[in-house]
Amino acid sequence: MSALIKIDNKEFNFPVMTGTEGEKAIDARNLRKDTGYIFYDQGYGNTGSCESAVTFLDGDNGILRHRGYSIDQLAAHSEFVETAYLIIYGELPTLDQRKAFGQLLRKNAHIETQMQEIFKGFPKDAPPMAMLSSIANALAAHYPELATNNFEKDLKQFDLAAAIALSKIRTIGAMIYRHTQGLPFMHPKDLPFCDNFLHMMFSEPYQEYVSIPEVTKALNLILLMHADHEQNCSTSTVRMVGSSGANLFTSISAGINALSGPLHGGANVAVMQMLQSIHDEGDDGTRFIEAAKGGSKSNRLMGFGHAVYRNFDPRAKVIGEACDGVLKKLGKSDPLLDIAKNLEQAALKDDYFVSRKLYPNVDFYSGIIFRALGIPTNMFTVMFAIGRTPGWIANWKEVASNPKGRIYRPRQIFVGATPRAYVPIAQRS
Ligand code: ACO
Repeated sequence: MSALIKIDNKEFNFPVMTGTEGEKAIDARNLRKDTGYIFYDQGYGNTGSCESAVTFLDGDNGILRHRGYSIDQLAAHSEFVETAYLIIYGELPTLDQRKAFGQLLRKNAHIETQMQEIFKGFPKDAPPMAMLSSIANALAAHYPELATNNFEKDLKQFDLAAAIALSKIRTIGAMIYRHTQGLPFMHPKDLPFCDNFLHMMFSEPYQEYVSIPEVTKALNLILLMHADHEQNCSTSTVRMVGSSGANLFTSISAGINALSGPLHGGANVAVMQMLQSIHDEGDDGTRFIEAAKGGSKSNRLMGFGHAVYRNFDPRAKVIGEACDGVLKKLGKSDPLLDIAKNLEQAALKDDYFVSRKLYPNVDFYSGIIFRALGIPTNMFTVMFAIGRTPGWIANWKEVASNPKGRIYRPRQIFVGATPRAYVPIAQRS
C-alpha cells in the first residue's frame, strides 16, 4: 500500500508504515526532495518524529502501555524502580537483575561535596526546576568520562550513567527541598529508592525519618504513574538534544527545562492553586465550573482535558482511586479533595465538558497525594521530573543506539521580510 499525493497535477507515491499496534503513517522522508513541498504541522501534532518501542499511547481509547504492559497492571503489581528498569531495558528484570539494579542505584545516590557547593550559588527562593536542570547538567561536567558526546563511548558506560541519572536526580530533588527550606542536607542511606528520598527530605539531624509503608507505597505509585508518556514535550526535547550527539545528562537537563512550563509539568501546581482559591472563596466548585465554561484560557478547569487523551487519562483513574485510600491510611482529610471530587462529578455530567471530551488528567489528583505526603506545592514539578527520568533515559538510549539516526532538524514556512537593501544607520528614520 502507498499514499498518493497530487500537487500541481503531478502525482507522487509515498510508502505507508504501520506500527505494531496498527498506527498508520505516511513515510514522508522524501517529500521535500520529490515534491519541493514540506508538511506544515505547527506543534507536530500530526508528525511522527521517530520510531519508538518504549511506550504505546492511544488517547481516543484511554490506553497507556509501557513495553507492552498496561499502566493498570504496573500500578497494581509493580513498583517505581522495577518499572524504571522495564522502561529503560525493555523487559521486566529477573530477581538478580532487579537486585543488581537496586544496588547500583544505592551506590550512586550520593552527591559529591564539590557538586553540593553548587547550591551556594542559588538563592533560597530560586525556582526548584531551574536548580534541578542546572545541577542535572552539572552531572555532565562532574562525570566527563560518562558524558563524552560520542554515542559509541557513552553507550559503553550507559548502565552506570543511567543509574547515576535516576538515583542522583532523586537525591538532587530532595536537596533542592532542603535548600529552599534553609535546612541542612540529609545524605542518602542504604535504603530503597522511595524510602531514601523520604529520609533525605524529612529526616532531621537528631530525628531520623521513620518509614511509613503507606507513604512509601503512595510515592512509589505516583512516581510510577509519571515514568514515561510517549513523545510529550520534554521527552521530544530530550530526543532532539540527544540527536545532536549530546550526552545523557545534558539531554535530560534540557528535558527538565521543557517540563517546567505550565502547559506541561507545571500543570500540577496550577491545579492546587485552583483548588486552594476555590476553597478560600468559600465555593464548593459549583461557581468555578460555571466560570470555566466561558472558554477563556485563564479560567480553565485545570487538570481537565489533554492534548492527546479524548477519553479518561488512565493515570488519572489510578491516582484518583488511590487518593482516598492514601488519605485514609495516613489519617488525614483534605478539603481540597472534596472540592476536586465535586468538580469532577459536576464536569462529568455537564454537556460543556462531555461534548468536548474533557476528562481529568494525571495532574488533577496527583497534587493532593503530594500534599498528603508533606511535599510542598513548589516541589510538585520536581517530583514529576524524578518520576519521568526513566522515560527520558530510555528515549535518549533509542536515539543514541540508532545507527541510521539523523539530527532533528524541522523546516519552517518563512513569513518574514523578502530581500531588501541595507540602510546605513544615519539614514534610518
Ligand atoms: N476547562 C475548560 N474548557 C476547556 C478546558 C478546560 N480545562 N480544556 C479545553 N477546554 C475547551 C476549550 O476552550 C475548547 O473549547 P471550544 O471548542 O469551545 O473553543 C475545547 O475545550 C478544546 O480545547 P483545546 O484548547 O483545543 O484543547 P487542547 O487539546 O488544545 O488543549 C490542554 C489541551 C492544553 C491540556 C487543555 O485541555 C487545558 O488547558 N487543560 C487545562 C490545563 C491542564 O490540566 N494541563 C495538563 C495537561 S496533562 C500534562 O501535561 C501532564
